[in-house]
Amino acid sequence: MGGRLFKLQNTTTKVELTPFVAKHYDTILNILSFGIYPVFTKQVIEKAPFEDNDVILDLGSGTGRFACLINKKVSVKKYIGIDLSNIMIKQANKKCRGFKNFSFMQGEIQKEIPFDNEFDKVFISFVLHGFEQKDRIKIIKNAFKALKHGGKFVILDYAEKDVNKSPIIIKYLIRKIECPLAEDFMKRNLKAMLQSTGFAKFEELTFFKGYVRLGIATKQ
Ligand SMILES: C[S@@+](CC[C@H](N)C(=O)[O-])C[C@H]1O[C@@H](n2cnc3c(N)ncnc32)[C@H](O)[C@@H]1O
Repeated sequence: MGGRLFKLQNTTTKVELTPFVAKHYDTILNILSFGIYPVFTKQVIEKAPFEDNDVILDLGSGTGRFACLINKKVSVKKYIGIDLSNIMIKQANKKCRGFKNFSFMQGEIQKEIPFDNEFDKVFISFVLHGFEQKDRIKIIKNAFKALKHGGKFVILDYAEKDVNKSPIIIKYLIRKIECPLAEDFMKRNLKAMLQSTGFAKFEELTFFKGYVRLGIATKQ
């Protein structure tokens, strides 16, 4: 457990990173994935439904990796990234310096967030799995509230899978490297969670033999 990348105690979330990991987050992911992660993130953004003139909220925006890719793909009207970590926000601000209409703010996405019917897209990447179930539901409710009618919640995260029946490398990744709540998330039915919160439509694309999913839910 000591080898995990994530803080384990005294935090409201289990995806809060240690300061060292936060500072070197992109490099660590690039190395751990043997260079696959940057290619994968590009593919995800190519397939994700972002469009010109979108107003986008990114929950747990990290170092701004996805903000950069979104900025390359489309001309956004407004992008706001929220993250708990000032170390991540600092990196995101540096990376996105000079981008028009991009900003990052510090906040806790499982608490009240000050947005109502404002966004065309709410994006969340590899964040939802790291929360207790009641906080995941709160985050989904926050996304629903923040979206305009017809807006889309775009979720990149682990898909439903039985880790017990997975190859040993997946067991090691999920149980030893990943956030302690990731396996719990993989047992949950995301579509049902979204429907119970009011989302009416759900589409999905999967990657890495179905272990990772880009889910898209619409607020109708
Ligand atoms: C695994 S990283 C993913 C970062 C980014 N979304 C990406 O895919 O590159 C998780 C992020 O969630 C942030 N985070 C953790 N708990 C949070 C909270 N309660 N509210 C907002 N952000 C949080 C962390 O600081 C970190 O940047």
